[in-house]
Amino acid sequence: IGQAISKRTVALVGLMGAGKSTVGRRLADALGRQFYDSDNEIEKAASLSISDIFALHGEEEFRRGEHRVLERLLNEAPHVLATGGGAYLNPETRDLLREKAITIWLNADLETLWRRVSRRSHRPLLKADNPKGVLSRLLDERTPIYEKADLVVTSEEGPHRATVNAILKALD
Ligand code: S3P
Repeated sequence: IGQAISKRTVALVGLMGAGKSTVGRRLADALGRQFYDSDNEIEKAASLSISDIFALHGEEEFRRGEHRVLERLLNEAPHVLATGGGAYLNPETRDLLREKAITIWLNADLETLWRRVSRRSHRPLLKADNPKGVLSRLLDERTPIYEKADLVVTSEEGPHRATVNAILKALD
């Protein structure tokens, strides 16, 4: 990767609960860059919460909005970007991310993801009878796609500092 990092946005991809927002914010601080969270930007643009967008307009419309917001963000100066867990799944959005950013899959095992999302679940995809089962299925289905990211970093249990350091080292 080397010099390329100085010119490129770093986009974190991966499942809900992987720590993309927390790790992304700290990574941005460490790199002295702006941080964006695509879910927050979508909420601002729509003046609605993610849950309300799903409930009122459906997932497909959410994905279109997500693509538009990412198109806008990826034209900004190099920054750190936390993407929503589904962004990288959409082929068009994935191509855009791969073209404009260094993509990093923030990977974590099911138990770690579950512990984090079950504390605070505002995620529409997990409003199900068996949310842990849904998360497990998403992990299985999405792993082969997330694996296409430029880099894979495992988000371990415990403080995010170690994960941030692992990314900084991998980008060096
Ligand atoms: C989604 C993940 C969420 C949010 C939406 C859909 C997904 O983002 O974009 O609920 O498909 O995995 P986080 O990964 O930030 O929770």
